[in-house]
Amino acid sequence: MAALAFNLSFTSPRTIPLPCYRAHRNHPPVIHHPLPSIPSSLRESVAKAGVLVLVGTTLFFGDPALAFKGGGPYGAGVTRGQDLTGKDFSGKSLIKQDFKTSILRQANFKGANLLGASFFDADLTGADLSDADLRGVDLSLANVTKANLSNANLEGALATGNTSFRGSIINGADFTDVPLREDQREYLCKVAEGVNPTTGNATKDTLLCN
Ligand SMILES: *[C@@H]1O[C@H](CO)[C@@H](O)[C@H](O)[C@H]1NC(C)=O
Ligand SMILES: *[C@@H]1O[C@H](CO)[C@@H](O)[C@H](O)[C@H]1NC(C)=O
Ligand SMILES: *[C@@H]1O[C@H](CO)[C@@H](O)[C@H](O)[C@H]1NC(C)=O
Ligand SMILES: *[C@@H]1O[C@H](CO)[C@@H](O)[C@H](O)[C@H]1NC(C)=O
Repeated sequence: MAALAFNLSFTSPRTIPLPCYRAHRNHPPVIHHPLPSIPSSLRESVAKAGVLVLVGTTLFFGDPALAFKGGGPYGAGVTRGQDLTGKDFSGKSLIKQDFKTSILRQANFKGANLLGASFFDADLTGADLSDADLRGVDLSLANVTKANLSNANLEGALATGNTSFRGSIINGADFTDVPLREDQREYLCKVAEGVNPTTGNATKDTLLCN
C-alpha cells in the first residue's frame, strides 16, 4: 500500500511549480534531476507513516489552497525541517505555517496564532504552547512531551500516529474534536483540570473523560 502510494505520487504530474532556476547570463542554467528534490522528510514519512504519506504528498505537491507557508526551499522564513530550538515565536501570527519535521525544543509559542499550522513529525519537547490558538493543527507523529499547553485551544487538531503528550501541562486546554489514541486520552484525563478562558469548556469535558 505504501509503496503503491509512493509510486503513484511521483509518477503523476507535479501541480506546483518547482523553484525557479533562472538562466543567468554568466552562468549556465542549473539542471536539477527531479528525484533528489523530493524532501528527505517525505521519504522518511513513507517508512514511518505508511499511508500518511498520501496526505503529506498531496499537501506538498497538490492543491495550492492546502499549501502551507514557510515550507519552500528558498523562501524567506523557512520553518520546515529546521532546527529552531528555543526560538521565540510568542504572540506571532503563524496561520498555516509549515513546521513539519522541525526541532522546536523549548521554543516559545506563547499566545501565538497557529491556526491550521503543521507540526507533522516535529519535536516540541518542552515547548511553551500556552494560550496559543492551535485549532486544526497537525500534530501527527509529533513529540509534545513536557510542553506547556495551558489554556491552549486545540479544537479539531490531529494528534494521531503516536503523538505523545507525556509530562505536558494541559490546565485549561481545549481538546474538542481531537482524535486521540485511547492510552493518550486516558493519560490526559488523569492530569486534566481547569476551564479554557476563550471557549469556556472544561478540559476534562473536551477530553470526554470519566
Ligand atoms: C520525545 O522526546 C523525549 C525527550 O527527548 C524523549 O525522551 C521521548 O522518547 C520522545 N518521545 C517520542 C514518542 O518520540
Ligand atoms: C505554563 O504557562 C502558563 C501560562 O503562560 C504559566 O502561567 C505557567 O507558569 C507555565 N508553567 C510552567 C511550568 O512553565
Ligand atoms: C506507536 O507506539 C507504540 C507504543 O510505544 C509502538 O509499539 C508502535 O510501534 C508505535 N507506532 C508507530 C507507527 O510509531
Ligand atoms: C467547546 O466550546 C465550543 C465553543 O464554545 C463549542 O462549540 C464546543 O462544542 C465545546 N466543546 C465541548 C466538548 O463541549
